[in-house]
Order: sequence, then structure tokens, then C-alpha cells
Amino acid sequence: MPAHPAFSIHTYGCQMNVRDSDLLARRLRAAGFAEAASEDEADVVLVNSCSVREKAEEKAIGKLGMLCAARRDRPALVVGLTGCMANRLGPDVFGLVPGLSFSVGPRAAGPAIVGLVRRALDGAKGMFVPDTDGRTVARSHGHTIEQSDNLAVSRSDRQTVGPCDRATAPASFVTILFGCNQRCSYCIVPSVRGGEESRDPRAIVAEVREEAARGAKDVCLLGQSVMRYGRMGFAWPEDLPSPMGFSEPLPRLLEYVAREVPEVRRLRFTSGHPSGVTDELVRAMREIPAVCPHLHLPMQSGSDRILREMRRGYDSARYLAAVRRLREGVPDIAITTDIIVGYPGETEEDFEATRRVMEEAGFDNAFVFKYSPRPGTPSSLLEDDVPDKEKRRRDQVLLADQDARGQRCNDRWVGRTVEVLAEGPSLRNPARWSGRTGQNKIVVFDPAPGLRAGDFVRVSVSSARPQTLYGELVL
Ligand code: 5AD
Ligand code: SF4
Repeated sequence: MPAHPAFSIHTYGCQMNVRDSDLLARRLRAAGFAEAASEDEADVVLVNSCSVREKAEEKAIGKLGMLCAARRDRPALVVGLTGCMANRLGPDVFGLVPGLSFSVGPRAAGPAIVGLVRRALDGAKGMFVPDTDGRTVARSHGHTIEQSDNLAVSRSDRQTVGPCDRATAPASFVTILFGCNQRCSYCIVPSVRGGEESRDPRAIVAEVREEAARGAKDVCLLGQSVMRYGRMGFAWPEDLPSPMGFSEPLPRLLEYVAREVPEVRRLRFTSGHPSGVTDELVRAMREIPAVCPHLHLPMQSGSDRILREMRRGYDSARYLAAVRRLREGVPDIAITTDIIVGYPGETEEDFEATRRVMEEAGFDNAFVFKYSPRPGTPSSLLEDDVPDKEKRRRDQVLLADQDARGQRCNDRWVGRTVEVLAEGPSLRNPARWSGRTGQNKIVVFDPAPGLRAGDFVRVSVSSARPQTLYGELVL
């Protein structure tokens, strides 16, 4: 085993996976491992995977196969899988990826990772630790994992992290709700991430504080269905009152975090659902200064028939009513969405309904996905009858619509001065910097000498594109 083994983590999927990767990296660093300068120099490579669409899984399997093949030249290389695919594939993954060192579910990974990596560096292969609905069951495949290995996850341990040794990005994430109970017909998340489980507000505040200590100024609270925070098997602690008079758990949490960690100047939460857009939530967004005027509110479709088939729990009228409440209650709010095209049986008429409702909602941005049947989901029993070519066409049409709409949304900002959290040199043109507004809009500007990532600056917006604002610093 090398004296200071170097690791590298390759992440697919959503922000929750990004967050999980970050926590795994911290645990490994705390245990004496070093972050490899590049994957080629790593002794340990972890693939943190996503199951939401087939393509994401294919990419991860391809990646794992390549890594295991690299063992011809680097026989000691440890290759581990974590994330949603570990739960979905179970021990079958060792048949798909021969030579894989271990596979560990996303909830189990935190406490188990250091032990797994150490054993793998000693030559163990085929170790498997799945999550099961909030509990961890250590099972073995090829290699025995004993209970004494301390792989069981206790509730409190699940997200605790080791000491930090790295400057953090000014924007960060904290998971507040694990799993999902919604059971939308197409979605694999409930089966790979388990049932809903809300974290205790004090544990959340402790973690947000830690992020603030590492330099975070913008924290996004994460949950697959974040507005269900505190709705299942949960009681808000009696000793944490709400001076603003909120009774619902999410507004209370936003108030509590904003009050306890004022260094975090921006708070967000994602992803939303129209049923969670209550009067209290709208008031929390308007009256708590740290809470950003921004909401990601996946709509999935604008066709009432398709929405019913998807079991989304709303129709287009209810969705639009939620959008209206947000726009009336939260000045300058930016609303973004997810859309699935080509759901089984989606007709041209259904698709046109989606186009109409998207226009009416006036989305600032939209992420469009081609329907992909996922094993074990209710919709996977239906015929995937929209040809891929047609899915691609619908995708392109929605993106073109959204470009025009995004341009109109962003044109409204030209001539105004916005507050921007500076993040660093712009990817396209490193001579310029980019940052984000409270609306989560990317702003590109020329930096002043001495500007640091994490600074708040004022930028006068001079031009706009569908996804970006451009402007000059106001000193
Ligand atoms: N096929 C295509 N897109 C999907 N999404 C979730 N499941 C599927 C699927 N089976 C999309 C939804 C969700 C986003 C994260 O991924 O739009 O909001
Ligand atoms: Fe992918 Fe969903 Fe898992 Fe996130 S929770 S990594 S989107 S399958």
C-alpha cells in the first residue's frame, strides 16, 4: 500500500451526488489520503454514479470498464462504485465490471468509505455494501464484510465529516432530505435512494455552519423533493420557535438557518413541487432576506393527461397557479424547470400543450430530457413508443422555444445593477470573471484587481444572452 494513497472521484448525476462526492473526499483526506492531481496518478478512483436515465448508467459502466482495464498497467489500482447505481445493480455489478474493488450505496458510503478503500488497497475485490431504506446491510460478494468492520450507518453519523483542509467554493450544498416517497411513474429515485427521511434542523445548521467556516456564501439545501421536508415521521423540535410565526417545516428551517448562520448570505432549496408552494413558503421567500428569489420547479409536462399518467399530483392549472403565487409574492423571482419529452403515448397534441404551458409559465431556464424507461418503474411496463428521432425533435423544439424565452427574461435585466457572488474566471474567457445573482443567473464581467472568489460585487448589466448576463463592475 502506498504511504499516502492518492484518490480521485468522478461524479455523475445531480447536486446531491456532487455533495456526496465532496463529503467522501473530505473523509478520505481526513484519513490521510491525498487528492490525486489527475485520475492517471490516482491509486484509488471512485465513480459516483447516477441511475436517473439509461445514458448516465452507460457512461458510468463505460468509465468503470476503462478503469478496470487500466489495471493491466496499474495492477494495484482500486476502482470503487458508489451512488445510485450501486443500489440499483446490487451484486450484479461485479458481473458487468469484472475486477471492481467495491460497490457501496450512497447513504452507506460516508461511514464505510475509508474502511472499504483500505481493504481494497490490501487487495480485496467484490465488496458490496448497499443501502436499504435508511439502514445499511453489510452483505458480501466474493469477499466477506464482517459487522465488526463498522459498516453500519447510524443516523447521526450519516453526514458528519472530518476536518477540512481545502478552500471551498463560495457556493455549496447541504442535504436536508434523503430519499423520496413521491413515486412518479417514470422515476427510479425511490428505489435507489430509499424513502423520505428528513434531517434534524440542528444537524443541518451545524453542517451549514461548517460550510460557512469553509467560505461558503451561498448554500443550497437539497432534497429530491425538498418541499416534503419534515412532512414524514418528523416533528419540529419544540425548543426551536419561529419568531416569524411559521408552522410549516421548510419555512421554519429556512428561517432558522438564516438566523443561525448569517455568514451565509444566500440560501436556496431544490427541487420543488407545486404542492409545496404554500402561502408560508412564499412569505419565507419574500421576507427572509437570505432566501434567494429563485426556484427550480420541475413541471415534466404541460399535458394534463400525461401529468396524470406520470402521477405528478397536479395538472397544468395547479402548476400555473403555483407559478402565479410565486411571481405575485416574490419580486423578480426566476423560475426554472425540468421537462421530459417522449413519455409513452405522448402525442403531438400533448407536446403542444407542454409548449403552451411553458410559455405561459415564462421559465427563465428549462432542462429537457428525453424519456428513458427505467427498470422497475411503473412506466417501464408501457411501450416506449415515441421514436428516438421524434424525442430528439421535441427536445430541439423546446430548447429553441426556451432560448427565445430565456433571452426575453434576461433582456429585462439589461440596464439594471445586480449583486453578484464572484466565483472565478469564466470558463469561456478566463480573462473575464463569472458569478451568479440571487436569481442564479450567470453574470460575466471584467474583474477589478484584488477580486477574490466569494466576494459580493455589483455589476451593471449591459447585454444579455439566453443563459448569461454581461456587464461592468460598479465600484
Ligand atoms: N427519463 C427521462 N428523464 C427523467 N427524469 C427523471 N426520470 C426520467 C426518465 N425516466 C428527469 C426529470 C427530473 C430530472 C432530474 O430528470 O425531468 O426532474
Ligand atoms: Fe441521479 Fe437521481 Fe441518483 Fe441524483 S438521485 S444521482 S439524479 S438517480
